[in-house]
Amino acid sequence: MAKTKSAYFCQSCGYESAKWLGKCPSCNQWNTFVEEVIDKGSAKVPTWSSATGTQRLNKPNKVEEIQSATEERTTTGDAELDRVLGGGLVAGSVILIGGEPGIGKSTLMLQLALNVSGRKILYVSGEESEQQIKMRAERITNTPKANCYILTETSTQNIFKQIEQLEPEIVIVDSIQTLHSAHIESTPGSVSQVRECTAELLRFAKETNTPVFLIGHITKDGAIAGPKILEHMVDTVLQFEGDRHHVYRILRSIKNRFGAAAELGIYAMQSNGLREVSNPSEILLSQRDEELSGITIGATLEGARPMLIETQALVSVSAYGTPQRSATGFDTKRMNMLLAVLEKRCGFRLSAKDVFLNIAGGIKVEDPAIDLAIMAAIISSHEDISIPSKICFAAEVGLSGEIRAVNRIEQRISEAEKLGFEKIFISSYNTKGIVRDKFKIEIITVSKIEEVFGLLFG
Ligand code: TYD
Ligand code: MG
Repeated sequence: MAKTKSAYFCQSCGYESAKWLGKCPSCNQWNTFVEEVIDKGSAKVPTWSSATGTQRLNKPNKVEEIQSATEERTTTGDAELDRVLGGGLVAGSVILIGGEPGIGKSTLMLQLALNVSGRKILYVSGEESEQQIKMRAERITNTPKANCYILTETSTQNIFKQIEQLEPEIVIVDSIQTLHSAHIESTPGSVSQVRECTAELLRFAKETNTPVFLIGHITKDGAIAGPKILEHMVDTVLQFEGDRHHVYRILRSIKNRFGAAAELGIYAMQSNGLREVSNPSEILLSQRDEELSGITIGATLEGARPMLIETQALVSVSAYGTPQRSATGFDTKRMNMLLAVLEKRCGFRLSAKDVFLNIAGGIKVEDPAIDLAIMAAIISSHEDISIPSKICFAAEVGLSGEIRAVNRIEQRISEAEKLGFEKIFISSYNTKGIVRDKFKIEIITVSKIEEVFGLLFG
């Protein structure tokens, strides 16, 4: 009888223990340990390397003797995805795409598979049948003539067998949680299965220089399901996010070994697939004729990309004892801080007011350069005085009400000018290196929050 070996794994972080534990010593979660059989003890089923005999011994090499591979990026046929990947697809890279169910991960990947020209692509699906995928492909393109093969299979050993015969140039796996490897007995989606299947695919990608896309499910609180180590193993982690009730979807890079993190791509989900949005500012600014109070525009930067975003605030007298504070698309803690600055430095009585804040388009903004726009929106709503729609803001606000410099100001100013704004408020510490004559837009420099309100509301 072959002996089986098992261990306990924390389902939250992947910590391995020989005994069951109530609390995970690594991530402090309770009751997360599940027993998983890690080795069947039977004769080894071949994995990628041993099946093909491609295993080789690596020797240490001097850095300067290693040939650099700068030209190896290839386009995916999708400008937004190329940008998020840092300028195209790198040979042999493993890319994990996470996102909520129904956000469009499978659509994005199938669209990629159908759009890449001249290369053989294998789309492995453990979630849908061939017919379902065919239906989706027809929805996306009318005449699918792409060199794309569909395989509905969940065993990694069988997948590798097919890969050997087909020799695809790009492999897409939908999803990593549905795969299982014959080396491990636990159920698909468990920590040890996800880890083993990823490791096998990783080995395949590195040895054959084939890029592999993995679709990953995410848990309720937004983390990619399975162990955190999954994110450490792969080269690039992309997050596909957005509000399912809005048409816009955002592809964000969280980790990228081959490019800048925090890069961003925007898509619109339409009835015939995802469409790239190359000019985000236009969709994020509402086309309004009359001027309303509580609305301002901030010149933010997402990744390397300038975007003008509309912020809306509503300040009203609180009906209950405790005023409500809520923010969509912006950190509530930071909003509270900005409110405290307004109260203390400018003397606005906001402590008995409800304050609601909304960033238009379902976008989440983390760039501190939006601070000034938010404060101006709050005061505009509080005083019920509208701010002319041709004014925008790009500055961070500090605790003592000082207006602070932000990075890449010139890029923000040119984007504002391009979109027809007439005035931009920036920090007076931000003027170094700006050639003012170059711009037609009027640049107003301020150093204190009081000054801004003096200029805006007189
Ligand atoms: P899907 O790619 O299946 O999401 P995921 O793989 O992340 O779970 O996307 C499904 C949603 O997208 C579904 O609600 C329908 C919508 N959709 C469109 O609006 N237009 C389309 O062309 C397609 C293919 C899907
Ligand atoms: Mg899917």
